[in-house]
Amino acid sequence: MIRRDILKTIAAAAGAGGGLGVTQAAAQGDSPVPALGDYATPWDPPDPEGLGRMKVAPMPDDYFVPGRFAGKTVIVTGCARGMGRGAAWRLAREGANVVGVDWLEEKGRETMEEIAAAGHATRFVAGDVADDGTCARMVEMSVEAFGGLDAALNNAGVMDGVHSGEPIDYAAQKDLVFASIHEATEDYWDAVFRTNVKGVFLSMRHELRQMMTQGRGGAILNVGSIAGLTGLAGNPAYVASKHAVTGITRNAAVDYAPWAIRVNSVNMAATDTPMIVRAGALVAAQNAAAGPGPGMGRIKTTSILAYADQNHRPATVAEQVSMMVYLLSPEAGNMTGATISTDGGWTAF
Ligand SMILES: NC(=O)c1ccc[n+]([C@@H]2O[C@H](COP(=O)([O-])OP(=O)(O)OC[C@H]3O[C@@H](n4cnc5c(N)ncnc54)[C@H](O)[C@@H]3O)[C@@H](O)[C@H]2O)c1
Repeated sequence: MIRRDILKTIAAAAGAGGGLGVTQAAAQGDSPVPALGDYATPWDPPDPEGLGRMKVAPMPDDYFVPGRFAGKTVIVTGCARGMGRGAAWRLAREGANVVGVDWLEEKGRETMEEIAAAGHATRFVAGDVADDGTCARMVEMSVEAFGGLDAALNNAGVMDGVHSGEPIDYAAQKDLVFASIHEATEDYWDAVFRTNVKGVFLSMRHELRQMMTQGRGGAILNVGSIAGLTGLAGNPAYVASKHAVTGITRNAAVDYAPWAIRVNSVNMAATDTPMIVRAGALVAAQNAAAGPGPGMGRIKTTSILAYADQNHRPATVAEQVSMMVYLLSPEAGNMTGATISTDGGWTAF
């Protein structure tokens, strides 16, 4: 019953049951560029435990850099919610034509239609990124609708084998939920690898072929995790699959530099999205079913910034999207093969 892992760890950090007062990315209507917030604001009275004396201010959810992606076409996988949704909005606001992809058809379509209703150019492709046909279609759509492909954010990912759209039912799903190796099922292992590794491979294969054919370079950003840079308790398939994302990112950076195609990854710790909410619910259900175990989930439970913040908040979607969009932009023109720790300092100690 050693089922204590990063999910427990980050669910705690993200406030599952802890009430950290952080909401998911706010609804995103179009507006003028908001000013960036102050870096930090003092808190009075001080934390009685001596931690979190300041509030580490999150940037505004709807901040953007006008015109940075004008005329460019960008694929965003996993666009229905969470960081993919936030990235699709921000890329569109910065001038990109955005092709969104998700296996949550209704939510994905709704997101892309909302962005289009705000005056931006979007298309939606429904499907599983671990299905080659989906990856072929998303690139074909970019070419048909917008004349080519300039950049791609391979963001779709899963933490366990339960389909992203399914409500939590631990008794029915327990064989698909994170588990230490001696208890893990092949179904859990295969499902996590299918999306996180095969999905990224197939996405890149089609994106790279198109970019090479065009001969005008490009930028690809894979979404990894701290789980791609370090071990985490209790979720071996997620950790191993995200290490594979680190590997394929580095390999592609080497292979495609001659085509001026840059390939990087971002690797975040707990970020306020539906994934983390689901993880918290699964951990709670697992605890209720199995009781506290001897796992190592409590060995490290938070990033530096979440620890230091007054509310011990996780990263916001906007904070992550800001780094993603920067790495896809020409501002990151000298970066390739980088596996950036967008993790509030988690991997620094
Ligand atoms: N939220 C975190 O704390 C956190 C931490 C580290 C890494 N990540 C990574 O960030 C990425 C985005 O996660 P999120 O937190 O926004 O999660 P999320 O579950 O809120 O959103 C992920 C989106 O990807 C879609 N998706 C998943 N598998 C798919 C597939 N096979 N085909 C098509 N669509 C698929 C889902 O339907 C969903 O819309 C993932 O790769 C995740 O592993 C998240």
